[in-house]
Amino acid sequence: MDADAWDRRYAGTDLVWSAEPNRFVAAELADLPAGRVLDLGAGEGRNALWLAARGWRATAVDFSAVAIDKGRTLAAALRLDVEWIVADVVHGYRPEPDSFDLVLIAYLHLPPDATATVLGNAAGAVAPGGTLLVVGHDLTNLRDGTGGPQDPERLYTPELITGHLDGWYLDRAGRARRPVQTDTGTRDAIDTVVRARKPAPPA
Ligand SMILES: C[S@@+](CC[C@H](N)C(=O)[O-])C[C@H]1O[C@@H](n2cnc3c(N)ncnc32)[C@H](O)[C@@H]1O
Repeated sequence: MDADAWDRRYAGTDLVWSAEPNRFVAAELADLPAGRVLDLGAGEGRNALWLAARGWRATAVDFSAVAIDKGRTLAAALRLDVEWIVADVVHGYRPEPDSFDLVLIAYLHLPPDATATVLGNAAGAVAPGGTLLVVGHDLTNLRDGTGGPQDPERLYTPELITGHLDGWYLDRAGRARRPVQTDTGTRDAIDTVVRARKPAPPA
């Protein structure tokens, strides 16, 4: 989907995603000391807003101006300070290297080349000792789970993500189940969850 298609999906007053953060984002980051965070493909900002409420200095980037506007409106209502940026994280936005304590990518599903570009930029933007968290629909959803893109090339595996993180400390690299309501009852969506720390240079 291009930015116009996402804008159409985000049109309307209801939130497309939730007001609450994604459960794995919350679980993985609740104990991390606040610093500077970059959320790539932030949507309406549910995760960036949650982090900002916990004291993080958040930058949220998405190419849907409609989603970013909704995030900005929510932030104003909640009196939270977030930097909102409308930009394409594949072809436009280049984060400053080594400058964020945390970089987050949640459910950003792109063609393989674009995924490689975004993961490379995201990893580069993490400061030494900082954290990268990637959460998204896992490839095994196609057979055993539910929801998410149906194109296998756009789905994650833990190995796909960690393949871009040579030399990093892997705090978590695996799959996690998330019960969701479907027309046929409750089913598990399967997510890839990778939390990794960038090595700091020797003192
Ligand atoms: C499934 S939503 C997830 C939103 C958010 N991360 C969350 O978990 O609530 C994917 C988001 O990625 C954005 N997106 C897709 N391709 C993008 C690109 N090339 N540059 C910037 N944003 C992009 C879409 O506009 C959409 O908001």
